[in-house]
Amino acid sequence: MAVVDVLGPQPYQVFIDHDTTMMVGNHVHALGARKVLIVHQPPLAAVARCIAQDLESNNVEPHLVSVPDAEDGKSIDVASRLWDTLGRAGFSRQDAVVTVGGGAATDIGGFVAATWMRGIDVVHVPTTLLAMVDAAVGGKTGMNTEEGKNLVGAFHEPKGVFVDLERLYTLPEEEIVSGSAELIKTGFIADPRILELFQDGPTNNWPELIERSVAVKAKVVSEDLKESGLREILNYGHTLGHAIERREHYRWRHGNAVAIGMMFVAYLALHRGLIDEGVVDLHRTILEKSGLPTRYEHGAFDELYEGMTRDKKNRNGHIRFVVLDGIGSCTRLEDASKNEMRAAYDTMMKD
Ligand SMILES: NC(=O)c1ccc[n+]([C@@H]2O[C@H](COP(=O)([O-])OP(=O)(O)OC[C@H]3O[C@@H](n4cnc5c(N)ncnc54)[C@H](O)[C@@H]3O)[C@@H](O)[C@H]2O)c1
Repeated sequence: MAVVDVLGPQPYQVFIDHDTTMMVGNHVHALGARKVLIVHQPPLAAVARCIAQDLESNNVEPHLVSVPDAEDGKSIDVASRLWDTLGRAGFSRQDAVVTVGGGAATDIGGFVAATWMRGIDVVHVPTTLLAMVDAAVGGKTGMNTEEGKNLVGAFHEPKGVFVDLERLYTLPEEEIVSGSAELIKTGFIADPRILELFQDGPTNNWPELIERSVAVKAKVVSEDLKESGLREILNYGHTLGHAIERREHYRWRHGNAVAIGMMFVAYLALHRGLIDEGVVDLHRTILEKSGLPTRYEHGAFDELYEGMTRDKKNRNGHIRFVVLDGIGSCTRLEDASKNEMRAAYDTMMKD
């Protein structure tokens, strides 16, 4: 089994192997919880029931709640229903939440744990590739409101993350493809071996790929828990990616938008002489091999530019990009002109 340490004020571990689900009961019992709210997405009902049985055999009382699927699960109504369940069942400060599902489940379950009695323990059992390498690690939790995605949230580190590789077998292909974008991103920003393994064929290499990708995220968040600096590198490809997601009214998978965003910043870096054509080609080869898109729409640049001007990372009216200055090495680009961005976009569309 691979174990990745996430350091910081409240260190925890990410366990990666087949059948790690069966370790959850013992782990939560050792945390001192007497009751556990298991928050799961509908396709994970059977997995949640296994965890519940395991908890019972560890003398911990399980309460199962199925939340609506995907983004519908990240609403104030769902949070309110979960708080009501905790209240009716008499959950105290020593009790805990276990989330079972993709990033939407870790986000809403983590948020409810962060807010119940000002914070109770949470353990994540991420079941999508994206949640395994990204959402479950780092302590960000979030909820959507009528005004937009992830506008409400809290930083709340889990007390353990259990990545069960068995979950990949039932995961729909489009979720594997979309999650691959975040995994490939960690290769470009910090660990070139991830890119080699991807080229070998990811299916043969999931354990090592996931371990390496989690290790990159763990290192970054350990050094910058609350997104004050280094953590920004995890946004590689996300500036244009978010603009595409907004333009598509969030009907696109996140990873697909980020893939195009990575291509775009690769061209920005190429035009600045920070990387060469070979690195741009490597982006295209790996992303296309994974089934991810590498181009968007001709003529969409002005709307996307408008979207990028609203990015959270911007400072003093400048759009801030994370770009590569080599494979596995990042820098920031804050003074790109609109014409420069347009040129990068147009070259991406031509090549
Ligand atoms: N907090 C963070 O740091 C962070 C980071 C990245 C993304 N996110 C959030 O994560 C969410 C996206 O996460 P996601 O891509 O995992 O999507 P998701 O949680 O919506 O899950 C995608 C779909 O896969 C299904 N599913 C999950 N595991 C399955 C399995 N093993 N077998 C079959 N079906 C399964 C789900 O029910 C859902 O229909 C977004 O809301 C995003 O904002 C949070």
